[in-house]
Amino acid sequence: MQRVLVRTYGCQMNVHDTEKVENLLLHHGWTLAEDLDCAEFLVINTCSIREKAEHSLYSDLGRLREWKQAQPGRVLAVGGCVAQQVGDALLRRFPQVDFVFGTHNVRWVSAMAEAARAGQRQARVEETASLERFDLPERHPDFVGATPGRAFVTVMEGCDMFCSFCIVPRTRGREISRPADAILAEARQLASGGVCEVTLLGQTVNAYGRHDRRRAETRRAHGAAAEDDPGTIDFATLLGRLADIPGLARIRYTSPHPLFVDDALIRAHGEIEALCPHVHLPVQSGSDVVLERMRRRYTHVDYLRTADRLRAARPGLVLTSDVIVGFPGETDADFQATLALVRAAGFVDSFSFKYSPRPGTAAAELPDAVPPEVAQARLEELQALQSQQTLDYHRSRVGEEVAVLVSGESRRGGGQHAGRDQAHRVVNFEAPQTVAIEPGDFARVRIVEATPHSLIGTLADPPAGVRTSLKPSRGATDRGIRIQGIPG
Ligand code: SAH
Ligand code: SF4
Ligand code: F3S
Repeated sequence: MQRVLVRTYGCQMNVHDTEKVENLLLHHGWTLAEDLDCAEFLVINTCSIREKAEHSLYSDLGRLREWKQAQPGRVLAVGGCVAQQVGDALLRRFPQVDFVFGTHNVRWVSAMAEAARAGQRQARVEETASLERFDLPERHPDFVGATPGRAFVTVMEGCDMFCSFCIVPRTRGREISRPADAILAEARQLASGGVCEVTLLGQTVNAYGRHDRRRAETRRAHGAAAEDDPGTIDFATLLGRLADIPGLARIRYTSPHPLFVDDALIRAHGEIEALCPHVHLPVQSGSDVVLERMRRRYTHVDYLRTADRLRAARPGLVLTSDVIVGFPGETDADFQATLALVRAAGFVDSFSFKYSPRPGTAAAELPDAVPPEVAQARLEELQALQSQQTLDYHRSRVGEEVAVLVSGESRRGGGQHAGRDQAHRVVNFEAPQTVAIEPGDFARVRIVEATPHSLIGTLADPPAGVRTSLKPSRGATDRGIRIQGIPG
C-alpha cells in the first residue's frame, strides 16, 4: 500500500488544491496517510502571500531531510504558490526535494511521483492559458473532504488585479473562468452525493467570466458566431442556477473583490434564499491615499456604500474583511482612517496582517517603510477593536435559534458539537447523548452565550413542523434520533 500525506499552507484555494491532489492520487491507487511516519510520499502545498509563509516551507524542508533518508524510496514534492514563484531553483537548493509542481500543474502530480520513484527530479511550473488544468477526475468514492456535507467548487482561477502589495497574480497567473456547465455539473454531482453547502472559489470570484464576456462582445461586434461562446455567464446568474440544484441548502463564495460587487450580485443577495448572508469582502485599508497606492481601485466611501447596499438587500448580512497595517508610507492618520472604517463597516470579524514586502511586486519598491514596532502596535490596536466588535455582535445573537451545519466535535471538548450557522459563525453546542449528531447534519440550536470566538448554544427542541424530519440514525437506532433535513 502506498500512502501520501499532503501538508497545506495558505488560503481556501490551496486547501481545495490539496483536495484535488488527494483525489487525483486516490484515483491512481494511493491511500491517504494518517501521519508523516507512515507516509511514503509527502506533498507540501505552499503559500507565498507573506514572507513568513514562504519561510515555513524552508524550515519544513530542513527538518524533512531526515524523514527522506530514514526510508529509501520516500518521495518529497513541493507544490503551490512558492513552487510557482521559485520553480526549479527549489531543486537546486534542496537536494531532498524530488519534484516541484506549479499552480497550473496539479494534474501531473501522480505521473511526477512515478517518475520520481524512477529517479527523475523535475519541476513543472509552466503557466497555461487553457482550461486543461480543470481536467481532473470526479470525487473518488473514498474521498471524504474536511467536512462531510460541505465542498469547495472552483469557478475561476488567477488574478489580473495586480494590487501593488500582492504576489498572487505572479503565483496563480492570469484570470481564467470555468464554463458554467462544468461548474453546475460538479455541483449537481456533489449534491447528489450528500453535499448541502458549496463554497465557490476564485481569487476574485465575483469577477467570474468578465474577460469572456468582454471578448464575446468584441467578437459579436465583428460578426462572430455563437459557437465561440466560452460558456461562462455572469456571477449572479451562476448563483441563481446553483440555487436551483435540489439539496444545495447553502451557497457561499470567496473571495470577492469590492470592485465587482455589482447591482446583480446585490440583488442576488436579496432574492436567493440559499445564498448565505455572509460576505467576506477584503478592504485592506480605510485611507484613500493608501488604497490608491495599493491599487485597490475604490475609495473608502465606495466600499461603505457597497457594504450598506448588501445589508439593505439582505438584512442581517454579516460582513467580514481583510486588513493590512503598515503599508509603506502609512501615517498615523491613515491608520486612524482604517480604524474608523472597521467601525463604520461594522465588520463582524476580520483577518489583519502586517504588510510584508513580496518579490516582484510594485509595493516592494516603495519608500517610507513603516518601522516594525509601529506596525505591530497598529496591528494590536486594530485586533483589540475587532475583538470587541466580534463579541458585541455575538452578544446580539444570544436568544436566537439557528440552523447549524455540524462539522464535528467542538474544540472546547466536553462532548460538545461544533458547526457553522448561515452567517459562517462558529457555533458550539450541547445535545443530549440520546441524540445522534454527526458531521454533515443540520441541527437546530438555541444560542445561550457569546464568546469572542464563537457562539455557544444548546440543541433546541425541534419545533412541531420540523419533528417529522427527524429520522432514525443510519444503522444506529439504539443511539437515538438523528437530526437531518433542516436546511439553514
Ligand atoms: N483575493 C483576495 C485576497 C487574497 S490574499 C482579495 O483581493 O481581497 C489574502 C489576504 O492577504 C489579502 O486580502 C491581504 O489582506 C493579505 N495580503 C496579501 N498580500 C499581503 C502582503 N504582501 N502583506 C501582508 N498581507 C498581505
Ligand atoms: Fe491579490 Fe489584489 Fe488579486 Fe486579491 S485582487 S489576489 S489582493 S492582486
Ligand atoms: Fe497563499 Fe497562494 Fe493562496 S500565495 S494565500 S496559497 S493564492
